[in-house]
Amino acid sequence: MLQADNPERENIVMSDLTSNFLGIHSPNPFWLASAPPTDKEVNVVRAFEAGWGGVVWKTLGEDPHIVNVNGPRYGAVYSSDRKLIGLNNIELITDRPLQTNLDEIKRVKRDWPDRAVVVSLMVPCEESNWKNIVSKVEDTGADGIELNFGCPHGMSERGMGSAVGQVPEYIEMVTAWCKQYSKMPVIVKLTPNITDIRFPARAAQAGGADAVSLINTVSSIVSVNLDTMSPEPSIDGWGSHGGYCGPAVKPIAMNMVAEIARDTQTANLPISGIGGITTWRDAAEFMSLGAGNVQVCTAAMTYGFKIIDELTSGLSNWMQSAGYHRLDDFVGRATPNVKDWQNLNLNYIAKAKINQDACISCGRCHIVCEDTSHQAITSTVNGERRFEVIDEECVGCNLCVSVCPIEDCITMEQQTSGVDARTGKPINPDYENWTTHPNNPASAS
Ligand SMILES: Cc1cc2nc3c(=O)[nH]c(=O)nc-3n(C[C@H](O)[C@H](O)[C@H](O)COP(=O)(O)O)c2cc1C
Ligand code: SF4
Ligand code: SF4
Repeated sequence: MLQADNPERENIVMSDLTSNFLGIHSPNPFWLASAPPTDKEVNVVRAFEAGWGGVVWKTLGEDPHIVNVNGPRYGAVYSSDRKLIGLNNIELITDRPLQTNLDEIKRVKRDWPDRAVVVSLMVPCEESNWKNIVSKVEDTGADGIELNFGCPHGMSERGMGSAVGQVPEYIEMVTAWCKQYSKMPVIVKLTPNITDIRFPARAAQAGGADAVSLINTVSSIVSVNLDTMSPEPSIDGWGSHGGYCGPAVKPIAMNMVAEIARDTQTANLPISGIGGITTWRDAAEFMSLGAGNVQVCTAAMTYGFKIIDELTSGLSNWMQSAGYHRLDDFVGRATPNVKDWQNLNLNYIAKAKINQDACISCGRCHIVCEDTSHQAITSTVNGERRFEVIDEECVGCNLCVSVCPIEDCITMEQQTSGVDARTGKPINPDYENWTTHPNNPASAS
């Protein structure tokens, strides 16, 4: 769009952001995740006007509809500059009558045929309950359903949400019911509150799921008020565990996406990536690990619907500069590079290097290396305050880079020839991993 408006750049081939996830088409791969931003027609229409590619409607349940607390639902974790990096909530599924939601979904899909409208569902674990609700949703013309096996609070104590998502047999059973009673694509939304995400993903696939989406929120208590001794958010002096999301959960979510994408049993199972996606780069990272599209909640709740402009223009600009014309050109590109530790190259040698022109002599790299790593950074040289890496001690651990307040002031430099000053051994250009290493008792036997 940017370039079409700009005649000087008309010869540049635009990146194509159009998305086809399970045959559900949307103008871009950004869907709003099932949550308050997708709770009502008025929000969803405003989101579509802003440019969102699709929505997963706030989870529907059976009547009588649930009730929420009438007080604080959220707890926040901030960075030192009060940027919201984690959000905790104790909200349940929709607290509006089922028919109200169904009527609105039908209208929205009719009025916005080019956008994805997927409906999230959660009902008791009985075949008749699922049969009943999926047929009602099918009548709205929605593009698909997402089974909420993820919410870790409130509904799980009633045998739904993550109580289902933590039992692979239940996942398979309910997924199979939904496939049996509906022609719509079925996305199974997974809970991260489990030890090994591959098992629920395999169960969803066994039940016939068209895709999995992940992650739902992480069980959490974010803070305690030390005056009242109440966990927060506090309802009349008491708190309850909630679901954690936002930028802080992105690493957990990306690992789980990668685990499913590289599992030989689920390698072809489409994935909708969710968890802390705030920037176009976050989205690109999820997609490079195998997510076919992405869903966003906390970022929209923090910055509003207009954040979609930055997500789409940023992704488009990056794709263009990287030479990717369409989403499929980079989806899953990073997946083959995710390995088990035992396959990493033990002959790869890197050393830290400090750019003296950029260094502000704060000393943080010296302190952390001295106290908790390998005593490989000086604090003085010839009596002057100066921070230099001692190659004879540096193991290349990267901790100094992680704590340095100046971006790119310390870099990790690969050594490809000569001798490793620390070990005195010649650099070996050949790949060698733990499976064949002489110190590995398993390889020696
Ligand atoms: C207030 C709130 C309510 C939510 N309600 C639902 C819900 O009804 N159904 C659901 O599947 N996920 C629900 N979620 C989880 C989100 O859809 C999403 O999986 C999670 O927030 C992670 O994405 P994020 O880091 O972009 O927020 C909710 C999240 C929040 C913050
Ligand atoms: S890479 Fe690790 S060992 Fe080397 S200087 Fe930095 S902190 Fe010390
Ligand atoms: S942490 Fe960075 S800026 Fe501070 S002394 Fe070390 S290299 Fe210099």
